[in-house]
Order: sequence, then C-alpha cells, then structure tokens
Amino acid sequence: MAKKRLVSGMRTTGSLHLGHLEGTLKNWVALQDTYDCYFFAAVWHAFTDRLKIDNLPEIIREMIVDWLSVGIDPEKAVIFRQSAMHEHAELSTILANCTPLGWLERCPTFKDAVRDDEARSGVSLGKLMYPVLMTADIAVYNAEAVPVGKDQLPHLELSREIIRRFNGTFGEILTEPEAVLSQVPLLIGIDKRKMSKSYNNGIDLRETPDGLKSKIQQMITDPQRVRRNDPGDPEVCTVYAYHKIYTPDRLEEIAQGCRTASLGCRDCKLMLFERLNAMLDPIRSRRAEIEARKGYIEEVLDAGEKRAHLVATEVMQNIRKVMGFLL
Ligand code: TRP
Ligand code: SF4
Repeated sequence: MAKKRLVSGMRTTGSLHLGHLEGTLKNWVALQDTYDCYFFAAVWHAFTDRLKIDNLPEIIREMIVDWLSVGIDPEKAVIFRQSAMHEHAELSTILANCTPLGWLERCPTFKDAVRDDEARSGVSLGKLMYPVLMTADIAVYNAEAVPVGKDQLPHLELSREIIRRFNGTFGEILTEPEAVLSQVPLLIGIDKRKMSKSYNNGIDLRETPDGLKSKIQQMITDPQRVRRNDPGDPEVCTVYAYHKIYTPDRLEEIAQGCRTASLGCRDCKLMLFERLNAMLDPIRSRRAEIEARKGYIEEVLDAGEKRAHLVATEVMQNIRKVMGFLL
C-alpha cells in the first residue's frame, strides 16, 4: 500500500534547542517509516516577524545538520528549503485570493501579534499571510497529513478551510490535509517559562558538556528550599520537570528524596546532567561525522529539492490548467 504523503516545516530562526527535539524532531523521526515525508526549512516563514536574519546560510546549514544528527534520514524523507521552491510562492499568491481577510485577522497567532496599536504598527503583511503560505506549503504536494503541535492546530484548520474554498470553486483539485497530533511533552525553559529563542532560556542541541552543566546549574529549583536540610517540593521545580521527561525510571525516588531532604539539589542536578549528556552524546558524534563530509548538506538539499520539484511541478500544472492560465 502506498504511504500517505506528509509535509512539515521548521522555521529558520536560529540554533535548535531541546524543545525542537522533543516537540518536533523525535516525532518526525518516528513518522519517516509510516509516511512519505517531506520536511523543509521554512525560510520565508522565519521572515514574517523580522526583516533580516544574520548568518542565514549558517542557520540553514546547521539546522539540516541537526536534523540528520538526530536521525532524519535523507534516504527516507525528502529534505529541502522552502526558499528553493518557487511553487510555494506561486500557490500562496493564488490562495491569498480565496482567503477572506476576516479568517486571517481572527487567527489566534495574528490576534496575539496585534494586541494593541503599538504592537500593530510592527506587524507585517507577511505575518497576516502566514497561514496562507503555510497552506501553500502543504497543498503544493497534495499532502494528506501534517504533524502539528497544539499551537499550530488553528493554522492547520485555516489551511483546511482555504483548501475547501479553492476546491469549492475549481473542483476537487487540492487535498485537505489531516492533522497528525503528537503526544509531545511540554519542555519549559531553564527559567520555568516556555522554552523560546526570545527568552534565551533554552538548552541548545549543540550545547557542550560544560554549557549543559551551566544551564542546569541555572535552573530554578524550589525557592523555599534554602538550606540543604530543608525539604523541597519537586512539583514547583524546573529540574524535576525535566526529570519527568528524562528520568521516568527513577522519578519516585527523586520526588521522595526531595521531599525528605535526603537528596540535595546539587546531586539532583548532577543526575539530570548525566541523563541529558548521555542523550546528546550520540547526537554530537553523528554531527561531527556529518560535518566532516564536505559538500554533503548541499548534496542532500539538491537531491531533496529535485524530488520536491517533481511533485510540486505536477500539482501546479494542474492548478494552472483549471484556473485557465494555459492557452
Ligand atoms: N508554522 C510552523 C511552525 O512554526 C512551520 C510551518 C511552516 C509548517 N509551514 C508549514 C508546518 C507547513 C507544517 C506544514 O511550527
Ligand atoms: Fe528540585 Fe531536585 Fe532540588 Fe528537589 S532536590 S528542589 S527536585 S533540584
């Protein structure tokens, strides 16, 4: 039986952190065997809230290297850059016309961006168009499945409506994609807020052992636990939130040790360091192997973009035909 086609993108906003790994990449790796996967660097989407991205070529390269180091396999998945695919832009221009302005203005991420007049003045048309471009990313491959986190669900719902509207006018040309929801743990930043580039509170995938140690040292524990002998409450502690994900086999022991003060925060943090470092180590060695192969990333993208063009060309030709662009 033919595998279903699945499309997903990741914005090129900078170095990847553990949130990308847990929230997206581990899921992508798992999906590679069951779906015909198309994974791309969402370069244009990264520009929807900034004018310029310094060192973009390095950001793109490192992102692809990181994908491969965690197990995305170019033999299984099609890997490419959105910015190398003019078909996405063409379809986005077309779909913009079957998207009512109100749908975009009501989108939660947009509403959040234009909270007040001051915020509004800094918001671009690109930001408003974000879901339209995303719809084009998906529809240009006639993807049947899109893996999304909860935060992206409103975008995908919009995509389905835009596609339905297009099909309502031109016939069943585009495929309405289904959401593939993943059970992803929510990773908080070292300061207990959401892990995010803009808060600078993330643990990078490229963290050195020393860097990792220092990040874990900065993690906020139970503030009530001032002295070593004070009992703690693991449920308010950032370190424990990480143990929940990375040390499930010893969770009870840690919670107990914290509550009875038989476990100190230093040792507790050391345990977490060992776990995270053991997870990052094989990723580091695979990254070193990949980085030693000169021209390899260019090869992977070249091959991926050729394969992606094969599909996108055919879908676009169909659209051009039904819309009457061809004489
Ligand atoms: N909006 C997605 C995110 O920020 C990235 C993205 C762009 C995407 N285009 C897409 C995801 C198409 C899935 C399908 O995570
Ligand atoms: Fe947090 Fe561990 Fe310290 Fe308890 S012992 S407060 S769980 S770091």
